[in-house]
Amino acid sequence: MSNIVIGISSGIAAFKSLDLIKLLKKDGHSLYVMMTKKAMHIVSPGKIEEITGYPVFIDLFEDNFSYEKILKEKKIDHIEIAKKADIFVIAPATANTIARCACGIADDFITTSILATISPVLICPSMNDKMWHHPATQHNLKTLESYGYEIMTPASGSLACGTDGIGRLPDVKVIKKYIESILSRKKLFEGKKVVVTGGGTIEPIDDVRVITNRSSGKMGKALAEMAYRYGAEVTYLHSKTSQISCLPIKHIPFSTSDELSDLLTQSLMTADIVFHTAAVSDFTVKKHNGKISSEKDHDLHLESTHKIINTIKKINPKILLIGFKAVSMRHSEGETTERSRLINESHKLFKDAHADYVIVNDISRKDIGFESSDNEVYIVSKDKKVKKIEKASKMKIADKIIRYIFK
Ligand SMILES: Cc1cc2nc3c(=O)[nH]c(=O)nc-3n(C[C@H](O)[C@H](O)[C@H](O)COP(=O)(O)O)c2cc1C
Repeated sequence: MSNIVIGISSGIAAFKSLDLIKLLKKDGHSLYVMMTKKAMHIVSPGKIEEITGYPVFIDLFEDNFSYEKILKEKKIDHIEIAKKADIFVIAPATANTIARCACGIADDFITTSILATISPVLICPSMNDKMWHHPATQHNLKTLESYGYEIMTPASGSLACGTDGIGRLPDVKVIKKYIESILSRKKLFEGKKVVVTGGGTIEPIDDVRVITNRSSGKMGKALAEMAYRYGAEVTYLHSKTSQISCLPIKHIPFSTSDELSDLLTQSLMTADIVFHTAAVSDFTVKKHNGKISSEKDHDLHLESTHKIINTIKKINPKILLIGFKAVSMRHSEGETTERSRLINESHKLFKDAHADYVIVNDISRKDIGFESSDNEVYIVSKDKKVKKIEKASKMKIADKIIRYIFK
């Protein structure tokens, strides 16, 4: 059974959290509840305490606060809760609490402890439809997604304010199912070692200029974090310019394709699975020491690099290799053509790299892929099955890739 931490903010749907808590408690989970001060207008902490058997956390500082006690016991409630949680759920999440979490504001129990947790976080927004559609709310939710938090889209229907629209807290049974699916992840990769590569390589031209590419490393980071969520021991080989994760993942930076190649040789021997999302430069140049003068024109001689992906199975033939391929799908015509095109484009990776799966990204679209937080991909398997994963945040795409391949 799990330790479930529930945060309740002052949306009108706060009264429904009692049912959520009852449902989860019935399954034998331990429930730890935090509330904003304003949520006390809607739901009584006493009623929650009767169900959970634990005090509800509202204030960061108790009435009889003593720093001597803290220093002696080395325990602070909001940090203990953050450590204890197998999952953190905010239901309902008001526009205000969402905004505070997105900004890293830590001015109450919920927003402070959420900063201190590395557990999965599920946000269940609920509000008036205009508040939901407001660009500030949408921007804040995107920010939370970029932190790896999962957002449950509210239901549509009649709202407490008398209008019809999106903004209702989803049925508590649906929320419970989502919580269970997050909790069940842990077991899938238990005991497995996963290597993820991400970001673009950087080949120096001289001491100042470089050849690189548009890969942001966001897809690699999402896969590394999701593999960790599924219980794997993760090594993330990331380009120096990529964002790193705050999860306990082994991070190793690389710059050039040669550096990445060396790191892979060291990491792959004992690994079970590799997600090779890094955009490796196809070319390098002979580096000029110092800074090339800008006074005149220069020719660059591009030397092709060796295909790192083709060496992976030579280093560890037993590893499960998931390769990534950037393809411009713009000229696709109809379903059949699209499918055969995807299979043709992936063929080389199956033949030369012995990849087990190829994930194809469409680089012709501006709203997904490079630099974007969203993606839409096709999973092509060796037996020529093609699965399309519709546009979603890279975290959701990572989750769906893992579920499709490993479940
Ligand atoms: C009757 C009433 C209902 C409210 N319902 C919601 C709601 O469903 N969602 C929301 O985001 N804010 C709602 N609000 C506004 C929040 O309570 C308000 O923004 C508050 O500052 C949020 O504080 P908290 O996030 O600390 O709980 C409601 C306010 C009132 C008076």
